[in-house]
Amino acid sequence: VLTYRELGRAGDVEAARALFAAEHELSPYAADALASEHLVGWLAFDDERLVGAVLTRTMIAADGAECGGIDELLVSASHRSQGIGRWLLELAETYYRDTGAAGMQLTVRDENAAALHLYQSMGYNVVERRLRMWKRWRGG
Ligand SMILES: CC(C)(COP(=O)(O)OP(=O)(O)OC[C@H]1O[C@@H](n2cnc3c(N)ncnc32)[C@H](O)[C@@H]1OP(=O)(O)O)[C@@H](O)C(=O)NCCC(=O)NCCS
Repeated sequence: VLTYRELGRAGDVEAARALFAAEHELSPYAADALASEHLVGWLAFDDERLVGAVLTRTMIAADGAECGGIDELLVSASHRSQGIGRWLLELAETYYRDTGAAGMQLTVRDENAAALHLYQSMGYNVVERRLRMWKRWRGG
């Protein structure tokens, strides 16, 4: 049975971190989002098992508007294409709509077809394509 609730109980952050690690999605960005004092998240469970998470915080959009910012969305590979990702996003949108935000924003990689389809089907529009640049002194 699938259930959903807001992240916030003792052990939730650790459980979410374990989910991201198990799915090979614990990027430095995800780790930062999980450590943020501004984190607002929702979790999906299949019975007792954590199978999905959306990590958000308030962000200021390019036009200055306060938005719900999605840092991470993850559904266990074993539980994809069942509507869990969509429902996690709906929970986040409802929260930010109710708390007065102007909308939502996120960043997604061009080649992430599943995520792109999901976001576009929920009404998200592409506003910017970015180039990432770096200069390394060591490593890389
Ligand atoms: C992106 C992700 C969260 C989607 O979660 P999910 O629970 O499988 O998504 P849903 O079942 O809610 O799918 C909703 C919609 O997404 C789209 N979608 C989902 N998987 C898809 C796929 N493999 N290919 C194309 N579209 C897909 C469809 O439009 C789908 O709508 P439909 O069911 O009416 O066809 C999941 O694939 C995931 O965790 N990926 C790895 C992490 C990641 O990339 N996160 C996003 C980073 S920005």
